[in-house]
Amino acid sequence: MGDQHVVTLANDSKGNPDEPLPALRWEEPPEGPVLVLLDQTRLPGEEVELVCTDVPALVEAIRGLAVRGAPLLGIAGAYGVALAAVRGYDVDEAAESLAHARPTAVNLAYGVRRALAAYRAALAGSAGGDPERAASAALAEARSLHAEDKEASAAMARHGLQLLAELLPGGGYQILTHCNTGALVSGGEGTAFAVALAAHRQGQLRRLWVDETRPLLQGARLTAYEAARSGMAYTLLTDNAAGSLFAAGNVHAVIIGADRIAADGSVANKVGSYPLAVLARYHNVPFIVVAPTTTVDQGTADGSSIEIEQRPGHEVTESTGNPVAPLGTQAYNPAFDITPAALITAIVTENGVVSPVTPDALAALCPSRAPG
Ligand code: MRU
Repeated sequence: MGDQHVVTLANDSKGNPDEPLPALRWEEPPEGPVLVLLDQTRLPGEEVELVCTDVPALVEAIRGLAVRGAPLLGIAGAYGVALAAVRGYDVDEAAESLAHARPTAVNLAYGVRRALAAYRAALAGSAGGDPERAASAALAEARSLHAEDKEASAAMARHGLQLLAELLPGGGYQILTHCNTGALVSGGEGTAFAVALAAHRQGQLRRLWVDETRPLLQGARLTAYEAARSGMAYTLLTDNAAGSLFAAGNVHAVIIGADRIAADGSVANKVGSYPLAVLARYHNVPFIVVAPTTTVDQGTADGSSIEIEQRPGHEVTESTGNPVAPLGTQAYNPAFDITPAALITAIVTENGVVSPVTPDALAALCPSRAPG
């Protein structure tokens, strides 16, 4: 068990919509550097910060979903390596435990690897292997990744908005989304949610339909929280109400994020994404994935090679801590599912849009990255 402590903030979910949510930040109080996380398990009821002073605390926060969502996991992983380095812990051991804290979102291992590489390069390059200089290099790399993700987020919003204008020329979009993909998962305004937000700011979003996203309710707890802050028109639905919404003609596009995109264009995202893609195909509705290129893993050939995180059964047999099934009931609880490229209309990245989704087109948009 690492060292975490909590700080309770004023609960103001109306907030200033122009102020991005502080999902994560690095601080250097006199007692030593810390990574401060907005505890996402407590939203929307309470805005509470979790202060991590060491890597075990951060690993616990990642496993418990206090910090979550693919791009933010990458940023947290990079800062985690920096935290270990500046506090003088074993950096290799810290990197190993961070990279494996959750298996599906490739960004986590990517962020860890980047900060570790910067640390090692600085250590090798400094006379006598100066650990302070190496720690500063790891921190600088984490800060770069954080800033790059913010820029990527803005670029994805621009490309996504342009794509919507091409696919749905009439405007007045009714967009269905799943899980949570806004400022809570990003250095900027997010991935899929950032596109909806951009459409809202242009007066083109008629409604964001928010899947509650069982079992952990990232849609109800987090996306609805972010939508309310932004002032957009939004409506929450149970995941299994989506079919009737399509049938009524009220979904113009589905827009989701991704945790890992394999080289063949298959997308791992929050469980429940794949059924939406099937529904979208049946109803002839565009199914759009928005993710930075840090989520594309050229080292994973196809969807079946992506490791899907299996989470504890009690997340299904209980709801907000209360039993919803007889004691002893077994549960099937994969955290993610795979949508094949053939069901995806387009993948939007910061470098542009892939449509149709083919391995070559995807590879062409991604700068070469070592396999995750
Ligand atoms: O288990 P979570 O809450 O970390 O899952 C998050 C998602 O599935 C998001 O949709 C995904 O990370 C894309 S966010 C850019």
